[in-house]
Amino acid sequence: MYQILKASHSHFAWLVLFALILIVALAIKAFFSKKPWQSTQIKWALIGLILSHIQLLIGLVLYFTSPNGISNLSGETMKDSFARLLAVEHPFINILAIILITIGYSKAKKAVGTMGATKSIAVFYGIGLLLILSRIPWQVWIK
Ligand code: HEM
Ligand code: HEM
Repeated sequence: MYQILKASHSHFAWLVLFALILIVALAIKAFFSKKPWQSTQIKWALIGLILSHIQLLIGLVLYFTSPNGISNLSGETMKDSFARLLAVEHPFINILAIILITIGYSKAKKAVGTMGATKSIAVFYGIGLLLILSRIPWQVWIK
């Protein structure tokens, strides 16, 4: 069970990051060329939202199954930067990032067809993506 979840979370991460990078790049480009995002573009943002939520769900189950998740919380873990990254920083910061992405989508959906929609995606998805990238356990992911 643990191995399957870990492998799914590890592979799915590629898809999530690829989608978010593409969406953020398109939103920033549209922002500077003053193009309001219409419902077609909001659908791309919805795909990014759904992929992030699926990764959140797998991550949460993994957190309670992995020997590096909740079961590893201790004073010793806090002193070890890599153990702390897996048990504390990665889960906490990524939940925060996905909350920001969800807020961004929700705001954009309400502002469809205006520059407000473009800006919400560029800013909220952009900050969310930076937070996610700041806490990826690269050492174990890309070997
Ligand atoms: C731990 C699991 C999950 C949590 C805590 C969660 C939480 C949320 C929250 C808080 C919202 C915003 C509701 C709103 O105010 O509009 C939302 C929306 C949404 N989530 Fe999730 N979600 C989870 C898993 C998933 C999964 C697995 C999927 C898809 C397979 C998914 C797809 C969506 C979609 C499509 C929306 C609505 C977007 C819209 O407003 O049109 N979520 N979720
Ligand atoms: C978009 C959000 C996320 C991305 C892109 C992501 C990506 C990753 C990656 C690449 C790894 C390393 C996998 C490997 O060893 O090959 C990992 C590990 C892990 N993730 Fe996430 N993650 C996300 C969200 C979350 C969330 C929200 C949680 C928990 C609430 C979580 C819990 C974990 C845990 C516990 C591990 C360590 C698994 C182990 O080594 O036993 N992740 N994640």
